[in-house]
Amino acid sequence: MSATTSTVSNFVSALAARRSIYPLSKGAVIPDEKLIPLVQEIVKQSPSSFNSQSSRVVFLLGKDHDEYWNKIVYDAVKGVSPPDQFEGAAKRLAGFAGARLTILFYESETTVQEFQKKFAIYADRFPQWSEHASGMAQINVWTALANEGFGCNLQHYGNLTEETIASKWNLPKDWKLKAELVVGEKAGEAGEKGFMDDSERFKVFGA
Ligand SMILES: Cc1cc2nc3c(=O)[nH]c(=O)nc-3n(C[C@H](O)[C@H](O)[C@H](O)COP(=O)(O)O)c2cc1C
Repeated sequence: MSATTSTVSNFVSALAARRSIYPLSKGAVIPDEKLIPLVQEIVKQSPSSFNSQSSRVVFLLGKDHDEYWNKIVYDAVKGVSPPDQFEGAAKRLAGFAGARLTILFYESETTVQEFQKKFAIYADRFPQWSEHASGMAQINVWTALANEGFGCNLQHYGNLTEETIASKWNLPKDWKLKAELVVGEKAGEAGEKGFMDDSERFKVFGA
């Protein structure tokens, strides 16, 4: 792969530096007081359809992070997991609990509905665009934190935990949980990553 300018080439290297890292510890790669405003700024700079700014973010640090993985997700997974699979699931959850913090990515359902009313001809598109906006905020944060030296992995237990979180941390009812980014100091490296054949993935016409 070759890029046209060193800035773009640096950007592609920054993208490649974002990997799923599972062995994580509680080390502060940068202090929480710096990390939180950095993530806030990244979310603000991430795009949304019609600048609807539908994304919302919750930071769980310290005992709240631990309680989320050791109690809330643990109990929820125990409730639905086949008994012979629970041991493996519990090990994974303990790994997430061992990280420093969790960033929860939400989308505001009220904002989506407001924009559906405001721009009625696109009404059926806004829920999908909200998912896109969340994904864009997630990848921007994940890539930035990876390039700050953190290890991160992305989890999806929201279908099991959204209600419990909303009542424990008193979140607005219309905030819909999309993903949980687990963040910590790297205690291991990413696995090998394979790529499918470019010829099956990309098509170029008119060149
Ligand atoms: C939309 C989406 C959902 C994902 N969900 C999970 C997940 O629930 N649990 C998990 O461990 N990884 C999840 N991942 C991470 C992928 O497994 C990972 O990105 C992929 O295997 C490529 O590895 P890399 O992140 O190291 O590049 C998800 C990634 C994306 C883009």
